[in-house]
Amino acid sequence: MRQIDMDQTGESGSAGGAAASAGAKKIGEVILDVKNISLRFGGVKALTDISFDVREHEVRAIIGPNGAGKSSMLNCINGVYQPQEGSISFRGQTFRHMNSRQVAEMGIARTFQNLALFKGMSVIDNLMSGRNLRVKSGLLAQAFRHPFAGLKWLGSAQQEEEQHRAFVENIIDFLEIQAYRKTPVGTLPYGLQKRVDLGRALAMQPQVLLLDEPMAGMNLEEKQDMSRFILDVNDEFGTTIVLIEHDMGVVMDISDRVVVLDYGKKIGDGTPEEVRGNEEVIRAYLGTSH
Ligand SMILES: Nc1ncnc2c1ncn2[C@@H]1O[C@H](COP(=O)(O)OP(=O)(O)O)[C@@H](O)[C@H]1O
Ligand SMILES: [Mg+2]
Repeated sequence: MRQIDMDQTGESGSAGGAAASAGAKKIGEVILDVKNISLRFGGVKALTDISFDVREHEVRAIIGPNGAGKSSMLNCINGVYQPQEGSISFRGQTFRHMNSRQVAEMGIARTFQNLALFKGMSVIDNLMSGRNLRVKSGLLAQAFRHPFAGLKWLGSAQQEEEQHRAFVENIIDFLEIQAYRKTPVGTLPYGLQKRVDLGRALAMQPQVLLLDEPMAGMNLEEKQDMSRFILDVNDEFGTTIVLIEHDMGVVMDISDRVVVLDYGKKIGDGTPEEVRGNEEVIRAYLGTSH
């Protein structure tokens, strides 16, 4: 049985905390609005009538027992799953039937519960793959159509490549993984692979970053590091964060507001304090065995 200590006030994974930075941080308008989302797989109701919003610059956590529908919710937001009902808006614009690439181009990036990195490739190449989204397309085609423009094209393509490399190098410095930039990702310890996955998502320069259990399988020190990086991304780049996390200590520490899911339904929504005191939430956690 996996137990979550609801009385834990954040001793584990303490990284300064949202509470500490709350004064300095300016939470803005609603950036992501999830309305009445229902998602079924055959007879399985993964999500039932879920609504919540995410405000600009906040750290919004989604918690709940295994199978509650948390990953499915992120998959609906980033276009991997198409919910049967409901709508999702980004900056007031409702999107339907968008694939993950379109959602990513709109400014929503994502890390995965099970890492989606190219294990044989180096750290820097994995980060460059996140950057692909920002590479201007059609330049090559243009060069062929206008052969005399070929040289000019070569110059600008090289320049663009250099800019992307510089951008990726900045992320590598930011995440303190300089020592591993040429290392194949598959040979790195798990905690570092998670950090590279965060880097790949950051390379997309997202406005909203969706993180699916970024600290799963980590030891305490790795959790503290990851918490700090998430808060730094939030503070320094102003990136809005939606975070699925199991460790209640971490959630209490770094999130501004929390959505609680259980069996595909929303059973709580509020500040970490409010959610922690919610009877139904306590029951869902204490009554569930995994
Ligand atoms: N692609 C899928 N096909 C069938 N069932 C799925 C699929 N994805 C998720 N589910 C089901 O939806 C429910 C919620 O799963 P999930 O969103 O992964 O939960 P969580 O991330 O909270 O652990 C589970 O019952 C799971 O088996
Ligand atoms: Mg999940």
